[in-house]
This record gives sequence, structure tokens and C-alpha cells, in this order.
Amino acid sequence: MALRGHFDFSNRDITVDFYTGIGKLPGAAAVDILFSLFGLGIYFGLPVWTIIFIASNPIHPMKTTLKKPVAIVGYSGHAYVIIDIFLNAGRLVTSYCDSEEKASNPYNLQYLGRESDVISQLKKFDFFACVGHNGIREKIHTQLSQYLGDPINAIHPSAVISASVKMGNGVMIAANTTLNPMVEIGNGVVCNTSCSIDHECIIGDFSFVAPGAVLCGNVKVGRSSFIGANSVIRQGITIGNNVIIGAGTVVIKDIPDNTTVIGNPARKLVKKPARSLKAA
Ligand SMILES: CC(C)(COP(=O)(O)OP(=O)(O)OC[C@H]1O[C@@H](n2cnc3c(N)ncnc32)[C@H](O)[C@@H]1OP(=O)(O)O)[C@@H](O)C(=O)NCCC(=O)NCCS
Repeated sequence: MALRGHFDFSNRDITVDFYTGIGKLPGAAAVDILFSLFGLGIYFGLPVWTIIFIASNPIHPMKTTLKKPVAIVGYSGHAYVIIDIFLNAGRLVTSYCDSEEKASNPYNLQYLGRESDVISQLKKFDFFACVGHNGIREKIHTQLSQYLGDPINAIHPSAVISASVKMGNGVMIAANTTLNPMVEIGNGVVCNTSCSIDHECIIGDFSFVAPGAVLCGNVKVGRSSFIGANSVIRQGITIGNNVIIGAGTVVIKDIPDNTTVIGNPARKLVKKPARSLKAA
């Protein structure tokens, strides 16, 4: 359906005539719909009385509503995945904010500036914080929400999401992810590609579930934690706040706040002291 003309998305959504594809602001006269119906009737050879019946009845024309274009905040590899989700979900991504204009611009987006400098411009968009780092994502999400309202969610059409799932805003649900019954997903959570989150799991705000991670039933993840790629969390486990679970880790015991674990079974990562440099 081709759109014509200039649209100002700042105040309200634009409705589009179902037949002609011409955008209209709310309240536009319905008389041209009448003409459209007459034209269609004549074209398809309907009897005159049918055309008169259709034309004389109250008109409820079919319309579709266009959403605002999407501006993303942060434009690197993680953002590319999110842009792809939006495109697959039929959203138009046109612009980005970042600390500086990017040399690489694979989606040909318009650079708006630093998000804090372009708040008034951002009002014309739906926004999404495309940053993998939990703390930075939280900061962008929280600061912009004060001026712009809640960010939208990025949900890939291939995700399998139970109708009983509760979800916050600014959430990313990537391709082939499964969210089973009664899962609760907090604000700004990332559920990355092909992760599996089983019944009654609760994922706290701004946590990150990396690709292929499997959370068995009733797992609780605190705030701002990171569950590494292909890790497995046994059912009923509680993972604290600011926890890092390394890639491929198998977690069979609760993990306290501010801990990094690796291996099978999971053990605390203890960093070896850096070797001192010997003088030549
Ligand atoms: C756990 C992790 C955060 C540690 O990173 P780091 O602090 O930079 O640690 P280092 O790479 O210095 O490794 C420290 C030690 O832990 C080991 N190690 C690191 N990650 C490990 C893992 N996932 N499993 C097993 N051992 C691991 C290293 O071999 C090293 O061992 P050594 O001291 O005997 O040489 C990181 O390795 C990791 O797994 N990140 C998750 C990656 C991921 O899932 N990405 C998805 C992005 S969408």
C-alpha cells in the first residue's frame, strides 16, 4: 500500500484509507469513501440497488493505523539484531542516537545526535535502548522515559510467547525465543536469540539472557544480571542481582548477588593475579 504526501507524526497516528492507501488525519470527510464504493460497484458490475444500499448505510471504512517511526539509541552489533526484529515485525526504523555519528551505517539510518541533546526530536519517534550493557541500557531507558514515556518492545514474530506471560517495557525478545506460561519479564530485559525461559520464571529489570540459554521452570533472576550463552539453569534456582553467568555454565545452586560463575557445575570465577612484568 503506497503512502503519499507529507506526514507529521508528532501529535497523533495517521490513518490510511484501506482502498486507496492515501493517508488521512482523523476527522477527514467520509464522502470520498462513498465515491470509492460507487466506483467499485460500477467496476464490478453490481446492480444499482446494491450500490445504493451500500452507499446509503452508515459507513465504517476499514482503516489501518500507522505507528510512529522508530529511533534507536545505540547503534552497534546488538542494535543490528534489534533493528532486524523491528523490520521483521513491520516497524519502520529511520533514525539513531549515539555519542557520535557512526562510520558504519548498514541500515542507512539518520543520525539525530546524542539522545540527551535531541529530546524534542525524539518525541516524533517510538524509541528503544539498543545497548547490551545492562547498566547503560537502564540509564538510557530510565532517563528517556521521563520525557518520552515508556519505550516500545522489540518482539520478533518467530518468538513463542504464552498468553499468560507478563512483560514490562523496553523488552527485547529475539528470534526463536520461547517464553512459557506465567513467565514474568521486567523492564529493559533482553531475551536474546533462541533462549528458552520456562514456566513461572521471573527475570528482573535490565537483566540479559544471552543466545541459547535455557532457564528451567521457576527460576528467579534478579536485577541487572547476565546469563551467558548456552548456559543452563536448573529448575527452582534463584540468581541474585548483578550476577554474571559465563557462557556454557550449568547452574545447580543459588547464586548470590554480585558473583561471577563459570563451568559445569558452576563455580565462582576467581581471577588469577596479573603476572608482573619482568624488566628486560
Ligand atoms: C565469564 C566471563 C564473563 C569471564 O570473562 P573475563 O572476566 O574477561 O574472564 P577471562 O576471559 O579473563 O577468563 C578468566 C578465566 O576464566 C575462564 N573462563 C572464562 N569464561 C569461561 C567460561 N564461560 N567457561 C569456563 N571458563 C571460563 C578462562 O579460561 C580463564 O581461565 P584461566 O584463568 O585459567 O586462564 C566470560 O568469559 C563469558 O563467558 N562471557 C559470556 C559470553 C556470552 O555469553 N556472550 C553472549 C553475548 S550476546
